[in-house]
Amino acid sequence: MAIVGPKGGVGKTTISANLAIALSMLGKKVIAVDLDLGASNLHTLFGIRETKASLDDFVLNKITNLPDIVLDTNVNNLGIICGGNVPGIANLNYNKKLKLIRNLSQLKTDFVLLDLGAGASSNVVDFLIIAQEGLLVTTPEVPSLLNAYSFIKTLIFRRLALHFKQLEQTELIELLDKARDFDSYPKLKTMEGFIEAVHSINVPAANSIRKFLTNYKPIVVVNRARSGKDADAGKVLQNLMNQYLSIKSSVILTVREDPAVGIAVARLKPVLLEAPRSLFAKDIGMIAHKITAS
Ligand SMILES: Nc1ncnc2c1ncn2[C@@H]1O[C@H](COP(=O)(O)OP(=O)(O)OP(=O)(O)O)[C@@H](O)[C@H]1O
Ligand SMILES: [Mg+2]
Repeated sequence: MAIVGPKGGVGKTTISANLAIALSMLGKKVIAVDLDLGASNLHTLFGIRETKASLDDFVLNKITNLPDIVLDTNVNNLGIICGGNVPGIANLNYNKKLKLIRNLSQLKTDFVLLDLGAGASSNVVDFLIIAQEGLLVTTPEVPSLLNAYSFIKTLIFRRLALHFKQLEQTELIELLDKARDFDSYPKLKTMEGFIEAVHSINVPAANSIRKFLTNYKPIVVVNRARSGKDADAGKVLQNLMNQYLSIKSSVILTVREDPAVGIAVARLKPVLLEAPRSLFAKDIGMIAHKITAS
């Protein structure tokens, strides 16, 4: 499961660390991986100050097997792979990235949680694509929600571009470029308009886009929600996705703003262990239940 977010500081790492704990408390074997390459800090949330082993060792070929850099945490069933900070790690070359992806998918565990960097860089998108599930973290403010919307749109466009490339359909690739510039091509502003245009070029391609969107269920976590109105922020995003991207079945989860988070962080302890009855712990616990139930 990849934890992503269009913006920095929205709570990706806090949610990754605590969701990993919540899942392990449900008896699942979990490995949390810090893939915020070059800006890693997941380990600090577990109170680990010095990383005995990290992705640096793997990237520099000092350690060949990824399981050898999994560190124990003081939580049962939960291991962590600390992020790398060697210069240039944020621009992993293609072969190294493939090797890392292959090794991640071979980890013997129930869950692998990937804490990713902000934005939709190629690193983020590559790791997100291999994940079986993605959690998109946002905050309830309107600019943040719009960023989340753009993030999902970018992901869909990248998938479509890949699909059209595989089909060797240059005409459809050009159409996708036009849809990016919807001021000049207003009919392509909505996914419905786009699908209609694809339909007039290639009917099976239009049908497969429709099928993909019907099955696509993005999971969005609205973090740091304060009031009832904030909790409705997810609906704003849901409506945007429905209206412009024809996504009918997104899942919106809410995590409340909670001073317990800051207090635990200052003590270098995970919130779930430091304040298991806090609002934050309850909300994360609920998400873990939903994930294991599905
Ligand atoms: N529900 C919450 N209630 C209160 N504080 C929170 C909550 N979630 C996150 N925070 C605080 O928000 C700040 C940013 O969180 P975090 O580092 O997890 O974000 P991030 O998205 O991983 O950032 P970056 O993009 O820099 O990696 C931290 O100080 C964290 O303690
Ligand atoms: Mg982070």
